[in-house]
Amino acid sequence: KPCPGFCPVSILSIDKYLYSMRLSDETLKDIMNRFRREMEDGLGHGTNPTATVKMLPTFVRSIPDGSEKGDFIALDLGGSNFRILRVKVTQDKKQPVQMESQVYETPDDIIHGSGTQVRALELFDHVAECLGDFMEKQKIKDKKLPVGFTFSFPCAQSNAVLVTWTKKFKASGVEGTDVVKLLNKAIKKRGDYEADIMAVVNDTVGTMMTCGFDDQRCEVGIIIGTGTNACYMEEMRHIDQVEGDEGRMCINTEWGAFGDDGSLEDLRTEFDREIDRGSINPGKQLFEKMASGMYMGELVRLILVKMAKEGLLFEGRITPELLTKGKIETKHVSGDEGLKKCMEILTRLGVEPSDEDCLAVQHVCTIVSFRSANLIAATLGGILSRLKENKGVARLRTTVGIDGSLYKMHPQYARRLHKMVRRLVPDSDVRFLLSESGSGKGAAMVTAVETFYCLLEPHIDWPLCQCLSKPASPHVQCLSARAAPGRGGRGAPFRSFGRIDLVTIGLN
Ligand code: GLC
Repeated sequence: KPCPGFCPVSILSIDKYLYSMRLSDETLKDIMNRFRREMEDGLGHGTNPTATVKMLPTFVRSIPDGSEKGDFIALDLGGSNFRILRVKVTQDKKQPVQMESQVYETPDDIIHGSGTQVRALELFDHVAECLGDFMEKQKIKDKKLPVGFTFSFPCAQSNAVLVTWTKKFKASGVEGTDVVKLLNKAIKKRGDYEADIMAVVNDTVGTMMTCGFDDQRCEVGIIIGTGTNACYMEEMRHIDQVEGDEGRMCINTEWGAFGDDGSLEDLRTEFDREIDRGSINPGKQLFEKMASGMYMGELVRLILVKMAKEGLLFEGRITPELLTKGKIETKHVSGDEGLKKCMEILTRLGVEPSDEDCLAVQHVCTIVSFRSANLIAATLGGILSRLKENKGVARLRTTVGIDGSLYKMHPQYARRLHKMVRRLVPDSDVRFLLSESGSGKGAAMVTAVETFYCLLEPHIDWPLCQCLSKPASPHVQCLSARAAPGRGGRGAPFRSFGRIDLVTIGLN
């Protein structure tokens, strides 16, 4: 469109304009090494208290071995949806896992829940109400099924205490509190059903366990969705926060907080800083804000505003819509959308885009989403190279379980991520396994193991239990009166126990 002084921006010049978002292999290797140092700080006794990447021990000590059985409920809170699932695990070869699930709306005012302590409880009242509704629909209100709680936030696993809210959540009065206690209280208050919350798992752990059920080589779980995070199996001898040196334990890295100590300052752009300033938790989760789905649409919007202001887009037109926070959603950035769709979205913002504008905007989206894939390749590369070193092998053969809306929806994201990981960790054969069923199946697996030990522990000698099995996590001990109190030793990994038949705990 003719307009004096307007020069449609070319793809090449966008590359130049956003050069600080295009990370070279050298830079990515550098990020990978920085992240490895952060992991070590999080694991070390002296360095853990001040470490930004928290490396939370999960007390999950093995990947499912296929012997798990039972009927479980899984709650999934903290991703893009609040879901409740019923998971039946059988020894049926054709269909070992059957699941039914329902998504429940969680109103924004409950998620943000600012104000009094009472508001905090509303979130758990809501969860308890939805659980009651689900059990009613499943006709299991009279049963007391074991419940696995996928709670996608950092928790000190020894007692399920929420360390800090992340992403969109901010309900007051929950941080520093045991979320299982809060939920139990809400369920008890209702009094119309009972539930045994046996395990609290992070979604990364649920994903690793879900994928681990199908592929026992799976030893890493990652989420690239609203938030981003990863867990992996670490050698016990390197985990200073937990006693014992034998075997391995799953660590929830909470890598979203990478950079909160300033270690990514040289890579954060003016757009990242603006996103952070406008967020509900400034200064926190800085890596997550650069890479996860929750912020990507907004990152693109901020870039477009700046380009339009400089006359590089839309003939310099700036509309109130373009200036409105949240008007470009991540699904627009990451959808498989052609020029026509792009035109439609931009037209809705009132900027009257030309074809060139649309091409330019699409290129901006590619740069922002590729930066995310590159950054995550670097941190994942850090985990994989550590695994390789831990195993002392020349070539790492492993499986990474993945879930998350951004990874699943973006048409080129997975390819980019896989390619970069292979480039950053060349001596490796990494299989990426998409978790088709979210983390619910995995939460059921953890619940199966926890339930088993809860029932078993009081009935066997502790020394025998120590030799044969993983001990129940301290978390389980404080949850169930049936578990023996105060035990904290370390045993061999669960898998060495052999194929335990968990049928006894199924409450079908
Ligand atoms: C945030 C949470 C983390 C979770 C991730 C993905 O980073 O802090 O616990 O795993 O989002 O949902």
